[in-house]
Amino acid sequence: MKIHVKKGKLTAIKSQAIILALFQDQKELTGTPLLIDQAGNGLITELINNGDFAAKPSQISVVYTRGAIPAQRIALVGLGKKSAVDLEIIRTAFAKVMQYLRNINVQEAATSPELNWLPEEKDKTVQAIVEGALLGLYQYTPYKTVGREDIKEMEQLNIVVEGKEYSFIESAVKKAQIITGAVYFARDLVSAPSNEMTPSVMAQKAGQIARRKNVTGKVLDKAKIKLLGMNSLLGVAAGSNEEPKFIILEYSGGSKSAAPIVLVGKGLTFDSGGICIKPAEKMDEMKSDMAGGAAVMGAVMAAADLQLPLNIIGLIPATENMPSGTAYKPGDILKSYSGKTIEVINTDAEGRLILADALSYASRYKPAAIIDVATLTGACIIALGDDVIGMLGKDEQLKKEINMAAEITGELVWELPLWESYHEQIKSDIADYKNSGGRAAGTITAAAFLSKFVGDFPWVHLDIAGPAWTSKDKSYIPKGASGIAVRLLVEFLRNRAFAEKK
Ligand code: BES
Ligand code: MN
Ligand code: ZN
Repeated sequence: MKIHVKKGKLTAIKSQAIILALFQDQKELTGTPLLIDQAGNGLITELINNGDFAAKPSQISVVYTRGAIPAQRIALVGLGKKSAVDLEIIRTAFAKVMQYLRNINVQEAATSPELNWLPEEKDKTVQAIVEGALLGLYQYTPYKTVGREDIKEMEQLNIVVEGKEYSFIESAVKKAQIITGAVYFARDLVSAPSNEMTPSVMAQKAGQIARRKNVTGKVLDKAKIKLLGMNSLLGVAAGSNEEPKFIILEYSGGSKSAAPIVLVGKGLTFDSGGICIKPAEKMDEMKSDMAGGAAVMGAVMAAADLQLPLNIIGLIPATENMPSGTAYKPGDILKSYSGKTIEVINTDAEGRLILADALSYASRYKPAAIIDVATLTGACIIALGDDVIGMLGKDEQLKKEINMAAEITGELVWELPLWESYHEQIKSDIADYKNSGGRAAGTITAAAFLSKFVGDFPWVHLDIAGPAWTSKDKSYIPKGASGIAVRLLVEFLRNRAFAEKK
């Protein structure tokens, strides 16, 4: 869907539907809704007084204007109580109303952002409207060949602005489009089946990002990975006919001397479990095991498009985890890139193995911070459910920054402890570490394992196993790939960039 920012008034605009968002506890109509109500002979007050519409969060009512104003329909959407409104409520309301309009075959709509909903967060309000509208309308359709003509699509959203706020709103919309574009990019990568989204294809997609200004891309092939001694990554890749790739994206928007932020994303294009093969049920969803890598690629892409004054590195170890005659086996010992040895207890605990090498590689950059994003453990879903990102790390400042970004983006994050005592569980009898600490505290012991491969740099681990893939529609996340952590990372980076400038 295209978004146009236009000068004008909602009351005067020709549109298939104008969207008006109202509060539940609003006693009287004001502003544009009042003008439209008057022009339409009480058309909105009638709906409210008769109880059709109470403006509860995401409640929707669509009425025809019958010529009272140039727009054909009015779509009312509720924002709930004014005192309780937040960015998530706005995102959700706009997602729902756009989906509703698309369902009734409306192809174009218009709305005006009200910057007084959240006076402290004017640009974020505009961003939330755009995010809700675009993210809620996402559909993945390239493989639908039958009945394509029945696919409903919203063509355009006009953001109508009166006078002085125009350039402010236009710039906020542009930024929001960049960010949602990066979420779409990540969702597309994760939605694609693993027979298409192989490590090589992921590397090609990274190449598209590398064409941007200030971005360079490098892909280490299997020979180079071997030469560097990334045997932990190679071990996981051993069972697959697909060549592993180690993808490197370098964005240099900051000063030459500024230490970069390194983002590491798990790029398991398909996780069968390997020799410790997974049950068939839901194994198809394991094409989404590269969601962390997709999120990192999306974040670098958005950072470059936003021209953030930062240096950012994206590292994505990409491979399949397959069982075969050449596959790595339980009991095998791998010598990682760091030199530390790992006893393989379970070939299904492969994510931490490929991340180990990437996290050690990150040290090369003497980073200001390292953040890894991974669909790492089923245990995280047991602990926190389907909607929440697990966060682990030792750096209080970095965790605080992630929590702040979570608050703004609505990408929920909850911290789990990483106390010393958990490290006992990953000690191996014959190697330095083992790749599984058993069922107890599975998310924590996975993070404890990762911590052994991070140099002395501020580091945070984000386990996105729960929210990366969703089996049921959530307001602005249609079922399937969520693109989770793109907006979180971008918000974190934008805040860093802002702090840098001061
Ligand atoms: N990719 C999975 C984790 C996962 C499970 C993500 C379900 C999303 C949904 C990961 O590689 C894995 O298999 N982890 C194992 C670790 C265990 C063998 C120590 C797990 O969580 O069971
Ligand atoms: Mn696994
Ligand atoms: Zn996995």
